[in-house]
Amino acid sequence: MTREPLSPEIMTYYARAAEAARLFEGAGRLEFARTQEIVLRHLPRRRTVVLDVGGGPGTYACWLARLGHEVHLVDASALHVDQARAASALEPTRPLASARVGDARRLDHADASVQAVLLLGPLYHLTEPRERLAALAEARRVLEPGGLLFAAAISRFASLLDGVRAGMFRDPAYVAIVERDLADGQHRNPTAEDYFTTSYFHLPHELAAEMERAGFAVLELVGVEGPGWVVPDLDSRWSDARERERLLWAARMVEREPTLLGLSPHLIAVGRRP
Ligand SMILES: C[S@@+](CC[C@H](N)C(=O)[O-])C[C@H]1O[C@@H](n2cnc3c(N)ncnc32)[C@H](O)[C@@H]1O
Repeated sequence: MTREPLSPEIMTYYARAAEAARLFEGAGRLEFARTQEIVLRHLPRRRTVVLDVGGGPGTYACWLARLGHEVHLVDASALHVDQARAASALEPTRPLASARVGDARRLDHADASVQAVLLLGPLYHLTEPRERLAALAEARRVLEPGGLLFAAAISRFASLLDGVRAGMFRDPAYVAIVERDLADGQHRNPTAEDYFTTSYFHLPHELAAEMERAGFAVLELVGVEGPGWVVPDLDSRWSDARERERLLWAARMVEREPTLLGLSPHLIAVGRRP
């Protein structure tokens, strides 16, 4: 197991400080809206203690704090934790309960101390099954019995579809990256291009299987964005309320369809600690 939570190339990738804007542009807006509805489907309305592990710049954590939940954020990137604290400071009446640097595989939180865990990032940057199992076991440890885990993965087919969407196949280096992604899910980017960074891209059923192996009862496994994220004019469609609703509807219609799960770049499995 690596000692540092993030390898140097992942640190370099996030040092570009682009993560804070990601969910507010392009397909990120579809991902954000859909992830919010998937979380709200399960999360109790009453004030709930939530631990956002790999919470990045705090977009989901601050949203849940604004809804009245007690939200603690942990992330391996000091830059992201600083950004989350700054975002929290903009909400003085509903701030984050805490934001700290930490590793999903070794959480500081006590056993059975939270009611929900978000794990919307670490699982794909942990490239070995035993590392992902360690992160899932930690989520299980800190959850009280009956507590909920929302775990995200990147689909095996994300870079293939993104290449179709944005025309990256002109670059032979991108084609080589996609070929390896499809072969074994190990995404590596040896270029200086914005082709994401070191990750593992799951086959959809693998995410549910890993959650079950870690002792969770899987309540659902869903594709997040659905088919709409590949349209070239996503930004203009998103600014039209009716078109936006159609894109969300399309995602909902096939969100649990096993043969289409991999169409979404992000997958979410919702689990319960028995
Ligand atoms: C793509 S960002 C996602 C941020 C946020 N959860 C979201 O969904 O927008 C992935 C995040 O996971 C964090 N991360 C990766 N590996 C981690 C680990 N082992 N422990 C804690 N955080 C980790 C990264 O620092 C980064 O902030």
